[in-house]
Amino acid sequence: MSDEKVKRIRAMKGRERIAALTAYDFAMAKMLDGTGLPLLLVGDSLGMVVLGYPDTTRVTLAEMEHHVRAVARARPKALLAADLPFGACTTPATALESARRLLAAGAEAVKAEGGRNILPQIRAILGDGIAVLGHLGMLPQNAVLEGGYHIKGKTAEERLGLIADALALAEAGAFALVLELVAAPVAAEITRQISIPTIGIGSGPDCDGQILVTTDLLGTSPEYIPKHVKKHWRFAEQMRAAVVEWKEGVVHPDRT
Ligand code: KIV
Repeated sequence: MSDEKVKRIRAMKGRERIAALTAYDFAMAKMLDGTGLPLLLVGDSLGMVVLGYPDTTRVTLAEMEHHVRAVARARPKALLAADLPFGACTTPATALESARRLLAAGAEAVKAEGGRNILPQIRAILGDGIAVLGHLGMLPQNAVLEGGYHIKGKTAEERLGLIADALALAEAGAFALVLELVAAPVAAEITRQISIPTIGIGSGPDCDGQILVTTDLLGTSPEYIPKHVKKHWRFAEQMRAAVVEWKEGVVHPDRT
């Protein structure tokens, strides 16, 4: 079943554009899956938008398993991919063990941040028959080291590095690549050069698809909404208004 979902996403390249979102819990996964998205990602962004950490490096594998289980209970028709969190992919043996744990929790594919630097890890996971979604460009797990979230591919060296990484991941057998904050012309060039779909986030319009952190799209992310979210809804304001109205009715029943 998950093989078919992976094949379906691969086959969308050049035919149909891919829209994907993150999911962190049962209720949201049910709602998102009902819209017909082909891919749901339990992203380690949950560290920031659900768990209140300052960045994704604090997220543990156990926390990822907990949220993957919740999303998997929705039995999504979409492919359920899950992030290998910080530290879960340092050696081929660790990567394989971590990927197996995410699959045991209900994931159908794993996402790993990195390119040629983690190729042995990617090969170990793929060698076990587990589908891999690549992730290149600005890698949130490196953002603390790099002092923030910066666009990648602006220099010739970065451009060539990204293209080489993308080709290596596609060649190794990844079924698609997330390109995060990659300079738009470079994301377009990678999209033309590789045989698997690219799914962009802040990487311009020419990827084969787009992914967003769902709470950024809905306007419920607690701290800030990134610039690449062109139109975001403002559900946090509506939720607050609903709570205030209800609270007023409880506290001052005579006024309602
Ligand atoms: O963790 C995450 O949600 C992600 C997406 C932004 C692609 O990696």
